[in-house]
Amino acid sequence: MGQRVTLPQIAQMKEASQRIVSVTAYDYTFAKLVDSAGVDIILVGDSLGMVVQGHDTTLPVTMDDMIYHTSAVVRGSQRAMVICDFPFGICQSPKEKVLAAAIRIMKESGCDGVKIEGGEVVADTIRYLTKQRIPVVAHVGLTPQSVKFFGGFKVQGRQESEAEKILADALAVEAAGAFAVVLEGIPPKLASQITAKLTIPTIGIGAGVECDGQVLVIYDLLGLYGDFKPKFVKHYLQGGDLIQNALKEFAKEVRAGEFPGAEHQ
Ligand code: KIV
Repeated sequence: MGQRVTLPQIAQMKEASQRIVSVTAYDYTFAKLVDSAGVDIILVGDSLGMVVQGHDTTLPVTMDDMIYHTSAVVRGSQRAMVICDFPFGICQSPKEKVLAAAIRIMKESGCDGVKIEGGEVVADTIRYLTKQRIPVVAHVGLTPQSVKFFGGFKVQGRQESEAEKILADALAVEAAGAFAVVLEGIPPKLASQITAKLTIPTIGIGAGVECDGQVLVIYDLLGLYGDFKPKFVKHYLQGGDLIQNALKEFAKEVRAGEFPGAEHQ
């Protein structure tokens, strides 16, 4: 088994202007596909609360859910770095508790690090974790765990004051020791300014093309999640249609007494 992508390699990619590719995955089979496609970072996002569990938001996801899915992704991958999202509620706790949660996640799932939503408000926690050598990816802008506070999944940073706050958040998480930061749902110009100011890589989602890397939710990328399609999502496959056609074909053959044929007995 070869070594997984490391923190120094991710830092080196920014220095070499080499774009970082990241995709979410939530299970063994998808992790294997994503890993063998050469993706650099697999994010086990708490988006699983919506695309796997069918909730309206990511808020109901638990630590046990995250560890269960992250363990499966670690088993399915060999090369990519695997990062696990902290579920809602953990990073609002005292930093000692957050450290204990990070250690539990890394011990029980075997992943390479954790992702924390929030900027200046979680900077002390990030500093505490990184002092203890826990690799942390930060996440600023449209942080989905704050959806109730924002009043929906709305682009952040359109107003000057909001943009300044997001830049301050990004600088704070970098100073606290995060090794990368996800920029979600912010104007491309702001993402570009943040990317130029930071020495750590920015990974964009709905933040334009100037980020150091891009991440998408795999169910969106493959056209599997049909509840809604954010404007920034590109379907690289009409996966939902393909799967439905296969299932209809299976149902047709079963009803016609054609499956299983002789070769499948
Ligand atoms: O939960 C998630 O999948 C995420 C990414 C989309 C950045 O946070």
